[in-house]
Amino acid sequence: MKSIASLKGKIHGKRVLVRVDYNVEIVNGRIVDKEKIIRTLATIKFLRSQGAVVLLMTHLGRPDGKRVKQFSTKQFISLLKKELSLLWLGDLNDKSPKVVSVLKPGQVGIFENLRFNPLEELNGSRLITQMKNVADVFVNDGFSVSHRKHASVYGIATKLPSFAGFALISELEAIAHTKRYMKCPSVAIIGGAKVSTKFKVIDSLCKRFDHVLIGGAMANTFYGALGYHMGASLVEKKFYKQSLSLLKKYAARIILPIDLVGRGEGKKWEALDIGPATQKLFTSYIAIADTLLWNGPLGKFEEKKFAKGTHVIAKALAQRSLGHAYGIVGGGETLTVVNKLKLSHSFDFVSTGGGALLEYLENPALPGLVVLR
Ligand code: 3PG
Repeated sequence: MKSIASLKGKIHGKRVLVRVDYNVEIVNGRIVDKEKIIRTLATIKFLRSQGAVVLLMTHLGRPDGKRVKQFSTKQFISLLKKELSLLWLGDLNDKSPKVVSVLKPGQVGIFENLRFNPLEELNGSRLITQMKNVADVFVNDGFSVSHRKHASVYGIATKLPSFAGFALISELEAIAHTKRYMKCPSVAIIGGAKVSTKFKVIDSLCKRFDHVLIGGAMANTFYGALGYHMGASLVEKKFYKQSLSLLKKYAARIILPIDLVGRGEGKKWEALDIGPATQKLFTSYIAIADTLLWNGPLGKFEEKKFAKGTHVIAKALAQRSLGHAYGIVGGGETLTVVNKLKLSHSFDFVSTGGGALLEYLENPALPGLVVLR
């Protein structure tokens, strides 16, 4: 994998298309946590210093191939004023080469949300050609999206000279280090709402970790599969069968919550956090672990009432990581929690990747990385 450092002195006036992952939470016109964005600034600054025309592309949310105003990347122009002076490039399409031609060396532009176009997630050849026509060089600086075989992550890298950005390289180095330091007992804590991405890796986590503690929508799905009444809770029925076979195979390894906190009644009842007994139970596993991996909040932490479980576990993890254990945390929402509680320095490694990190630990051949090699 070639680093962009090798482009030094070679890209003055060249158009460099950079895949970043600015998939961040925006609430009331504010970016909740800018960590993912800040980590890409080294790459952008370097390219600017080399006189390149920098063209940023990212997704934001999951608009499913449709134009959804709330997910427009145009808002980054004002939201990132302090960090970057961004020019608006609009949709990436046949007209883009003309739009881009007015940019001068050192200027930085950003395209509209790639996922407004269904061809992005389909790795569609028309969009890949449009990307190719707009640039001379491609850079991937989004480790957290490198598990997606999408046009901007995979397809474009097969068409242009492609390089790894500084943020991507430092994540890979840190993960390699992490893998060498895994010691027993090891505990993984998995939560969050992106059930489908995470179900794929539970099996391999169970092989690698002594215990896998499950919360969030993942836990709801296991309980739904076991026949519990989950009301309006977030569950993914298509994973019921897999949940049962995982529980059968790893009965002693998978640890589910023993109490849940929720709201509503009857059919409207929804589980939104782990309860106090589960907080104690999970903390007891964390307190004796020598390797800890955490991805995904344990409940709907955005609502203060349901943030307790996530906060208690985050603090227990930080305490143990600061003391004995090797602690890794990853994922956009997890990062938000860790930064909000000012705990990031307690961990040995904080990755921007959630799904990407879990998939990488299972098999490092992520589509966006393989293609760079
Ligand atoms: C993330 O936030 O984990 C990445 O941006 C990937 O997003 P996705 O799961 O919607 O592909």
